[in-house]
Amino acid sequence: MTRTPTVGIVGAGQLARMMIEAATPLDIPVRLLAAGPEDGAAKIWPHVEIGSPKSVEDLLRFAEGCDVITFDHELVNLEALRQLEADGKRVYPSSNALLHAQDKLHQRRAFSAAGLPVPEFREVAGLDDITSFAGEHGWPVVAKAQRDGYDGRGVWVLESRDEAAALVEEAESNGVALLVEQFVPIEKELAGLIARRRGGEYALYPIVETVQQGGICVEVVAPVDVPEPIRAQAEELTVAVAEATGVVGNMALELFLAGGELSVNEIATRPHNSGHFSIEACGASQFENHMRAILDWPLGDPGLRAPVAVMANLLGRGDDDLDGGVPAALAAASPGVHPHLYGKSSRAGRKIGHVTALGEDREETRARANAAAETLMAATAAARGAPA
Ligand SMILES: Nc1ncnc2c1ncn2[C@@H]1O[C@H](COP(=O)(O)OP(=O)(O)OP(=O)(O)O)[C@@H](O)[C@H]1O
Ligand SMILES: [Mg+2]
Repeated sequence: MTRTPTVGIVGAGQLARMMIEAATPLDIPVRLLAAGPEDGAAKIWPHVEIGSPKSVEDLLRFAEGCDVITFDHELVNLEALRQLEADGKRVYPSSNALLHAQDKLHQRRAFSAAGLPVPEFREVAGLDDITSFAGEHGWPVVAKAQRDGYDGRGVWVLESRDEAAALVEEAESNGVALLVEQFVPIEKELAGLIARRRGGEYALYPIVETVQQGGICVEVVAPVDVPEPIRAQAEELTVAVAEATGVVGNMALELFLAGGELSVNEIATRPHNSGHFSIEACGASQFENHMRAILDWPLGDPGLRAPVAVMANLLGRGDDDLDGGVPAALAAASPGVHPHLYGKSSRAGRKIGHVTALGEDREETRARANAAAETLMAATAAARGAPA
């Protein structure tokens, strides 16, 4: 009898925590590489090593105890992954696939070369690159850090040469490399989610709409409400990008809809915030299918089990703390709302949990999910004596 391979997850945030929740009923052994014992997943799991995902030494040592390596985030040393791959270790997503998620310039170039629709973009070596790009495409333009951005950090809408000059100066002094791209007048943001096995077999989730505020995703609605040809094109793009990157495991594709056309924003080569609804709403969640895909096991059903599912993020407000918030979460939860608390300390704008509501009607389900999120945050703040 062959034993079930041990999965090593690099990073121990909420995605790792939800991967563990999905791995448990399938009895998949999991080990974590955590930055510290207080990381959300490290707090609930005994098999933890402490180390840095940027350190070759830490990654190689961690990998010794694992059969398959996967990731909670993409801020990982690629050299170490290449060494592991050269030694025959199974690393999913591969270092090549992961590079797309790590480096926005590499990603834009690769997708553009593959003929995928992407906003016009340019590498920024100095201020002139932004001003000449804006001369061709008009202000505003969007500047992005090539690496290390998340939740809208590392994305700047620039209205003028002066704003561009200030950003370039700041980026240079912080050693941040930039690219610039067209400002897309977005009507809707969509996401495609797919779990893909080595041989190409995949499970495609329903295309969703994501709602952002200040560059942070606040709400996800499944399925998306757009004309059928657009939905079908979003599905085709999701499959095409997964094949172009050769991703194994879960991938999320963020898309812009503007003027009736879709363009590719970015990918994540792992489970993603836009897929959290799948825990309660789909036959198999993105976390379960990620695990199955990296183990090259048969995939589960990604189809919706309810007409509508809405996920609302719980964003920290600074002085609140969801520790102790479970009764409030449950009071806010009924009927049919599922709270998830990540065990993270609160900072303004930090994702500290989410709720998912299932329902029949789009607007009613949205209202119920958002009300539950609001009630939970307010009740928790009140319980702590903080202003709601
Ligand atoms: N070219 C653009 N034109 C208009 N808006 C944009 C553009 N690029 C990004 N945005 C807005 O900024 C948000 C964040 O951008 P992006 O996804 O590149 O950053 P991120 O910080 O890596 O995101 P994430 O929250 O997914 O980690 C997008 O969801 C979108 O709302
Ligand atoms: Mg994004």
